[in-house]
Amino acid sequence: MSFGDLDGRRVLVTGGSGFIGGRLVERLVRDEGARVRVLVRNPASAVRLARFPLEFVHGDVTDPRAAAAAVDGCEVVFHCAYGTSGSQRHRAFVNRGGTEGLLEAAAGARLRRFVHLSTLMVYGQTGDGDLTEEAPRRRFGNAYSDSKLAAERLALGAARSGRVPVTVLQPTAVYGPYGGVWTEQVLAGLKAGRAILVNGGEGLANHVYVDDLVTAMLLAGRRDEAVGEAFLISAAEPTSWKGLYGCFERMLGSERTASLTEAEALALWRETRRARPFFLGELLRLIKTDRGLRDRLFETRELRFLRERASDLLPERLQQRIKAGLGGGHGVAAAEPELPIHPLSPSMIGFFRPKTYVRIDKARRLLGYRPAFTLEQGMALTEAWARWAGLLGEAQDSPI
Ligand SMILES: NC(=O)c1ccc[n+]([C@@H]2O[C@H](COP(=O)([O-])OP(=O)(O)OC[C@H]3O[C@@H](n4cnc5c(N)ncnc54)[C@H](OP(=O)(O)O)[C@@H]3O)[C@@H](O)[C@H]2O)c1
Repeated sequence: MSFGDLDGRRVLVTGGSGFIGGRLVERLVRDEGARVRVLVRNPASAVRLARFPLEFVHGDVTDPRAAAAAVDGCEVVFHCAYGTSGSQRHRAFVNRGGTEGLLEAAAGARLRRFVHLSTLMVYGQTGDGDLTEEAPRRRFGNAYSDSKLAAERLALGAARSGRVPVTVLQPTAVYGPYGGVWTEQVLAGLKAGRAILVNGGEGLANHVYVDDLVTAMLLAGRRDEAVGEAFLISAAEPTSWKGLYGCFERMLGSERTASLTEAEALALWRETRRARPFFLGELLRLIKTDRGLRDRLFETRELRFLRERASDLLPERLQQRIKAGLGGGHGVAAAEPELPIHPLSPSMIGFFRPKTYVRIDKARRLLGYRPAFTLEQGMALTEAWARWAGLLGEAQDSPI
């Protein structure tokens, strides 16, 4: 699908090396014919973009000179970059200060639109029932959400003062090929242990397939009615957390969740906090029982070195005892351990509990947004990618 009006126009994408920005760049180049400029902090992470004829501006979004050079001559800015490295404090600074600097640079340029990616998290802990853009914004209580809230306020303030024609999009959980938090990290978490389904996972999982979000971004870049407005962007309807995690479990071919009441989840969290001093004991138990983990550890440079030194320094009898203690030594199968349950913090328990139904009526009305992907369709595409990327266990040959 092409909207046609960006053909030959220069647009800037920040965070173009990331999940959402990367897909946006692909669509802008391939479908829209736009002249795309990307602000890239770390060229090594932009390999996905290397096949496109892009203009690269190398720099950090918090650097005013890089921001000004990136915005210069562009008609539309899509701001996807956010703090992904360093301390929580630094990440918050990238979210808030980076957005402020980019808005500052944009204020001096003759922009047609500045599309700012915010998040559902700006509504804080939500309750049961419908959620619309009329709901009060609240701090969630973590650095990411609270600094994204501050950034959203700056962006809407710039629109209200007439300085920058900003449109804010508030996506729910975005999943799809190359996805981080709600794709790759979920799969990695489920491979390493079991995820908690709070109250059986009957809370509502508001989610959106990456291509639907990118379509909403392109619409936000062209609709004049969108200036100064914020839009929740989600799929046509939510599923339950059980439903969402079920999709990932099916990809992995086994059950990887544990249903706990809120009280049980909270007790597990407290228990884990108390149990911290025994982390080393837990690690040794895992090494003892998990052959895969042990094999991987023994292949690391550090452990190879230690093993070589140990055979030089330790008496033979002691070496034999260590081997025996590790369940027969490297290469001998041990019983399959039960996967540990990943504890959830109280605020995340509060995130998974409610039956919040994100309404997208405003985006439908003012942007003409129509989600095109059902959960089944989005997950089928995600699974094909995850299989190719070797995230489901077995590495595959590249189809390209
Ligand atoms: N994914 C979701 O489920 C979701 C949900 C709601 C909202 N959002 C919002 O959507 C946006 C994009 O998220 P994503 O999932 O696509 O993130 P992502 O894959 O982690 O990508 C983040 C991008 O930001 C760049 N970046 C980080 N720090 C930077 C800095 N100081 N200067 C310049 N660039 C910097 C990264 O570049 P490097 O390669 O150099 O690290 C990367 O390109 C974010 O604003 C996020 O808050 C995402």
